[in-house]
Amino acid sequence: MKKINLGIVGLGRMGFTHAENIVERIPEAVLVAVCSFVDEELQMAKTKLGVEKTYTSFENMLLDAEIDAVVIASPSGLHGEHIRLAMKKGLHVFCEKPIGVEVEDIEKTIEVVEGYPKQIFHLGFMRRYDKSYQYAKQKVDNGEIGDLTLIRCYGIDPASELENFVKFATNSKSGGLFADMAIHDIDLVRWFSGKEVKRVWAIGKNTTYPELDDLGDLETGAAMMQLEDDTMALLVAGRNAAHGYHVETELIGSKGMLRIAQEPEKNQVSIFNNQGVVRPTSQHFSERFKEAFFREMKEFILCIQDGKQPGITVYDGLESTVIANACQESVDAGKMIEISK
Ligand code: NAI
Repeated sequence: MKKINLGIVGLGRMGFTHAENIVERIPEAVLVAVCSFVDEELQMAKTKLGVEKTYTSFENMLLDAEIDAVVIASPSGLHGEHIRLAMKKGLHVFCEKPIGVEVEDIEKTIEVVEGYPKQIFHLGFMRRYDKSYQYAKQKVDNGEIGDLTLIRCYGIDPASELENFVKFATNSKSGGLFADMAIHDIDLVRWFSGKEVKRVWAIGKNTTYPELDDLGDLETGAAMMQLEDDTMALLVAGRNAAHGYHVETELIGSKGMLRIAQEPEKNQVSIFNNQGVVRPTSQHFSERFKEAFFREMKEFILCIQDGKQPGITVYDGLESTVIANACQESVDAGKMIEISK
């Protein structure tokens, strides 16, 4: 089978993780080109990963590099433009979440993606590729916890990343806490329940970094949601977990409950010392979801080879951003928001 030649745009925290997975763990693909504004990142791709072609302009990479597909890990505000350019160039596209931060822009993207049905489009909701989430999903689908009544999700970044985040959000549009962080949990709520959200009420608070106020962003936000069948969802999103990277999900059903990662354990070691019994925690998304990032990229490549579209679509991208934006609107307006269909 022909190997898939790939280019990546964006080589920061996320792009480099994808680049390493492709080079080190996916023999069906070759990373031939990378694009970033940051010279050290391009040098690192050359020396550490052996990538031959480097670019500082996405358009130039599309014009010059001989690639079949692109991985988009540029800042969220650029995703729509980058997807549309790549699709029109005849390439398959993997795009990091969110698909876009504005609904009008996403609608333009959908129109273009629909125009090229033979090209693969994949959106990076990697939690769907995590083995614990897949195990839980099977139990829910088999009816083992009965009818879902409530889904509770925590998605909190480590405090150690807050300063970096302030820099990241100052330089590029992240879409705010709900579009940037809670979007994964919003996708999980839709995936586990198979239902759409009909109304949201969200609130937030900043305590540690007043800079976030200036950026119009939040350190911690909470959202309460009602789905179309009255199932409830409670989301907590944040950027300031003292103990590490905390992603936890609970599914409450009429016959039982499931909890996924109720403690964000790094491994199975307990340390007994003068602090008591200490359980080390995972510190970063790339650590907690290492395997899921690999598995979603492998799926993208196999979908290209098999000519089949993956399960996560542009419409999942649109719906998740609509809900995230409704949460932000609710915080800004101080009231419950109905999501119109
Ligand atoms: P970052 O700030 O670390 O890296 C951004 C990269 O984009 C840099 O290499 C920069 O040079 C490049 N870039 C910026 N503007 C560009 C342009 N006009 N043309 C070409 N390249 C450009 O950002 P990070 O954290 O890697 O985030 C990137 C995307 O990945 C975001 O959309 C974010 O939401 C997503 N992400 C997803 C995660 C997940 O859990 N699935 C985790 C972290 C990020």
